[in-house]
Amino acid sequence: MPIYLDNAATSHPKPESVYQAVDHALREIGASPGRGGYRRGLDATRIIFEARESLAKLFSISDSARLVFTSSATEALNLAISGMLRPGDHAVTTSMEHNSVSRPLRVAESRGAAITRIPCDRYGFLNPRDLAAALQADTRLIALSHCSNVTGTIQPIAEIGRLARQAGIPLLVDAAQSAGVMPIEVEEMGISLLAAPGHKGLLGPQGTGLLYIAEGIDLPPLLVGGTGGHSSGEEQPEQMPARFESGTHNTPGIAGLRAGVDFILETGIETIRKKEISLVDGIMAGLGAIDRVSLHGPPPGKERGGIVSFTVAGMDPAMIGFSLDQQYDIEVRTGLHCAPEAHRSIGTYPAGTVRVSPGWFTTEEQIETFLRAMRQIVKT
Ligand SMILES: Cc1ncc(COP(=O)(O)O)c(C=O)c1O
Repeated sequence: MPIYLDNAATSHPKPESVYQAVDHALREIGASPGRGGYRRGLDATRIIFEARESLAKLFSISDSARLVFTSSATEALNLAISGMLRPGDHAVTTSMEHNSVSRPLRVAESRGAAITRIPCDRYGFLNPRDLAAALQADTRLIALSHCSNVTGTIQPIAEIGRLARQAGIPLLVDAAQSAGVMPIEVEEMGISLLAAPGHKGLLGPQGTGLLYIAEGIDLPPLLVGGTGGHSSGEEQPEQMPARFESGTHNTPGIAGLRAGVDFILETGIETIRKKEISLVDGIMAGLGAIDRVSLHGPPPGKERGGIVSFTVAGMDPAMIGFSLDQQYDIEVRTGLHCAPEAHRSIGTYPAGTVRVSPGWFTTEEQIETFLRAMRQIVKT
């Protein structure tokens, strides 16, 4: 079996209960949720409801109907950004964003919105004072990631949330690299919109994602159409979450997502985070001791997410990834990781980095094997 160290792209493997939940939904339930009044139709509806409830518990959301299922974090981010920004509006973001934030912002810009991109430092940190200085009377959105998918840099979301709340500006957080591994309490942290994939730290299947939309946030839906209920009306229903969930749900995916979230709730987010920190510390220490290796992102001793990005002087990151795969059966990601501006911020553009991202099921032995492989690759 290959050693999988690309959990920042998607988590693998999943807890056994996730496979079972997908199989059960697909094989035994089968029916469409929110449509049929027969028993299996109601079972499908219950799956979706219970998944929403589990997610609401994880993120301390008091009304689970404010959580909308999407097919990915990207869809959730498009829904939030395209809906929030009109021509003439202003938004603030950072130089560390994934293309799933920066490209929808570019589209909004091409339609007449103004975007301020705040440069982050070479470790990837945003200075909240720069953010405060960038806010204007017409700022309608602050959009940024909680944890960088390039460097693992964690932004001070609670502090940014306080700033946003004081200024009365909605805060959109891209939690793609933090949901399921770091504590997130949306109401406490002043988050108005939270976008997350279901298939990374939340341990669900690919093809799942979510957007939390706080009370009072007025968004148009991305898609309109059949919602199962309110069938006589020609207009899209106003009710949450149906307003944003047209078309048949990804019931098997959402069933798996629920099992993933329940696994997290049972295991405890602190336990998951502690293991992530221990694995990342091991990777940092091991790589840091290899000649010619440069580690990027927060310096050792500073908190970071489950991501280590590095380069080796005189070696192309892509070649390192190729050797790890072909000679050692180890899977990592190389290049720009869909975040070119982040690499400009930390000085690794255009070749990018090698990115190692362990997950809940990664073992210390696997990390040792990876480090041994790296020592040999760098020596040759
Ligand atoms: C920071 C960040 N934002 C957004 C995304 C997009 O997530 P998805 O693939 O679920 O659309 C990713 C995935 O790589 C990411 O790392």
